Amino acid sequence: MDLIVGVYRDASGKTPVMESVQEAERFLASAAESKSYRGLSGNLDFNDGIARFVLGSGHPALERQSTIQTVAGTGALRLIGDLIAKLSPQAKVWTTDPAYVNHLPIMAAAGLEVQTFPWRESETGLDFEAVVQALDGARAGDILLLHGCCHNPTGIDPSLEQWSAISRLCHDKGLIPFVDMAYQGFGDGVDADAAGLRLLAGEHEQMFVTLSCSKNMSLYCERTGAAMVIASEAGEAEKVRLSLEQIARANYSMPPNHGAAIAAYLFAHPEAWLKELEECRMRVCTNRQNLAAELKAIGAPEKFQCLERQKGMFSLLPLSSSQIERLRDEFAIYGAIGGRINVAGLGTQQIPLLADALKRVFDSP
Ligand SMILES: Cc1ncc(COP(=O)(O)O)c(C=O)c1O
Repeated sequence: MDLIVGVYRDASGKTPVMESVQEAERFLASAAESKSYRGLSGNLDFNDGIARFVLGSGHPALERQSTIQTVAGTGALRLIGDLIAKLSPQAKVWTTDPAYVNHLPIMAAAGLEVQTFPWRESETGLDFEAVVQALDGARAGDILLLHGCCHNPTGIDPSLEQWSAISRLCHDKGLIPFVDMAYQGFGDGVDADAAGLRLLAGEHEQMFVTLSCSKNMSLYCERTGAAMVIASEAGEAEKVRLSLEQIARANYSMPPNHGAAIAAYLFAHPEAWLKELEECRMRVCTNRQNLAAELKAIGAPEKFQCLERQKGMFSLLPLSSSQIERLRDEFAIYGAIGGRINVAGLGTQQIPLLADALKRVFDSP
């Protein structure tokens, strides 16, 4: 059982091209007039569409943001890392522990110092006290790197009250929020998943956002994403965009157009795409509920019930490294290092097998 892979899988174990994406591609193939160069900011319709998608139409921060297309979310992270290193080289980037595997290497490669704060379960959700305690060491001007939703690898998301407290903490300590949004639509729905990000964007004059279409449009190999900078006013955001373009020029010049053109089409004709995305989300939620229910039914420890509360494709199971090894050696169940499993990678018939194996490695350590 391969639970390592970081992509969505449907009930048959495939990562299909969405039908709405196929329709967009048919349209683009028939309408393409030229493959001439685009600008350094990439596809402008895409930039506008993704900004409205993440902030929500009518959000006041739309007027004071600038978004440029990047080589997926990874490229956006590096571009923003380079920008921070250029504008404020002594700023530290605070990232969660455990973190998305690429956050630390990308920020370090940009020349920034990285510090961590714990991201773990309490009895009811995110252990917020531990976050506040660790961030006591952060200084004004430091960057707080958060996951917009569906935290990778833990699946632990802040409640709206906790997002509000994060916003206050940033104000009190002079921290700049940086939200990495890679799974919008996989947690509670496209708007609910962006609620924390939208709250921060409304309450802060400076903020960084990185965006990915890999998961919610299933455009993994098309490398489609964006970097957004929110500033105190439109002129400032425009200046920062020029800096981002300079950094992009020295890297790859312009991002590839195909994925962004597909995404722009979907933002303009969202109905079929949002329906397919909702089906993916429901499958992940159902897998979570079924696995938690199965574990409960066979009397596995209560702590596994956090699976139901957690969001998105990943959860970090409360397993020791020897228990992870036993899952592999005795049951051929492969999770990632640290106990991360891809809940979206689970086939329906695999759920009882996984639950049984988890109970066994717990019962006889
Ligand atoms: C938290 C997070 N950020 C960013 C990314 C980058 O994804 P991509 O480069 O495919 O857009 C991922 C991918 O797994 C992720 O989990």
